[in-house]
Amino acid sequence: SNGWIEACAADDIEEEDVLRFDHGEQSFAIYRSPDDAFFATDGFCTHERAHLADGLVMGDIIECPKHNGRFNYRTGEAKGAPVCVNLKTFPVKVVDGKVLIKIG
Ligand code: FES
Repeated sequence: SNGWIEACAADDIEEEDVLRFDHGEQSFAIYRSPDDAFFATDGFCTHERAHLADGLVMGDIIECPKHNGRFNYRTGEAKGAPVCVNLKTFPVKVVDGKVLIKIG
């Protein structure tokens, strides 16, 4: 492959929500924004190993379920204590109703 893998169907995620996607050893979080665009980040918070998909999406922000750290999921930017390391982001495209992410 060229690094694009199918994560889910677009319809699997509500607007302003997030879905967990596991692939091999890796875990990702797939987001659908309030303006109906899709994004992907590493699935784990950079503070401790909490699944961000268990957190809350508010606008452009994902709030970690463990200590309420916040990231901008579009850019991966850490938004303040206790998170200080940015999230890794991955390219996303929607093809025929499927959400693909580029991990290679
Ligand atoms: Fe996410 Fe602590 S594990 S803020």
